[in-house]
Amino acid sequence: MPAPTIVLDVDTGTDDALAILYAVQHPDVAVAGISCVAGNASLEQVVANTHKVLDVAGAPLIPVAAGAVKPLIERAQQEDAFHGVDGLGGVVLPDTERTASPLTAVELLRQQILAADAKVTLVGLAPQTNIAMLLTMHPEVADHLERILFMGGSAGTGNITAVAEFNVWQDPEAATCVIESGIPVTMYGLDVFTRLTVPEHHAQRLASADHPAQRLAGELLLRRGARADGLSEQAYVGQIGDAGALVYLTHPELFTTASHPTRVNLSGIGRGQTIVDRRAIAQDAGELGRDPWRTIEVVLGLDVPAAAQAFLETIDSFAG
Ligand code: RIB
Ligand code: CA
Repeated sequence: MPAPTIVLDVDTGTDDALAILYAVQHPDVAVAGISCVAGNASLEQVVANTHKVLDVAGAPLIPVAAGAVKPLIERAQQEDAFHGVDGLGGVVLPDTERTASPLTAVELLRQQILAADAKVTLVGLAPQTNIAMLLTMHPEVADHLERILFMGGSAGTGNITAVAEFNVWQDPEAATCVIESGIPVTMYGLDVFTRLTVPEHHAQRLASADHPAQRLAGELLLRRGARADGLSEQAYVGQIGDAGALVYLTHPELFTTASHPTRVNLSGIGRGQTIVDRRAIAQDAGELGRDPWRTIEVVLGLDVPAAAQAFLETIDSFAG
């Protein structure tokens, strides 16, 4: 049975880098392409970071394409405080000889999705500008998508604001396009994103391990969370961040989900919030004639030690 095909949309960043390492190494995932979007860093920096991480992983020449330089409406607002100005928390990687695809991100995503032998899972780990443009320009891809799994949103508190998570906040209109697309959608939000951490001793072990991919993972884990602007009281947090969405993809049994009507707040002080209606009555919204919200799958719980172990086993498998 061939491994399920996925395409990644990234704003490589420290945790997108962890996700890429995991995805290219896990035997149950086949990465057909990676599209880049501005977010944690500028588009140019995201493309360079993505290529460098693929080099460290010894990955095949997976096509990487540049996409949106900014959100549909908002101006681009990098989260320097968390990922550093280079997007990789100051981790310096060798220059790369990889070159970006001549296709745009939308063209690459469309090509790889339509060319796949089976339905593809589109994994979004960034502001969803590229994905929204893909669905708007090429609605024909919908029949070839198993689902869209995106890291973003929250059923509870936010990170970039009290109620909004960065990826959705940066492009709430794009997130709305995805959630209301009619394609099966799974939201891997802050409800689990902030909980899936790796103990510090493992990060330290990895940082001095044999394989460069192990060392990169360790260095990134040691830098994530200790905010570059010094605002964080915690020296070590160890969130695997975006990589958790890939662990969910390969080990869904370690997570709990529920289906809830969900909508993105597009105006006012709550702009960028994902409003997840967890009331029992919510399921009847459509029947009551109210403005029916789109029901999506929301990841809400997890077995933290087991999920962390699944991540570590895959990263350690680089050592052979
Ligand atoms: O809010 C966290 C998300 O925003 C992660 O995907 C991180 O990489 C940034 O893109
Ligand atoms: Ca990201």
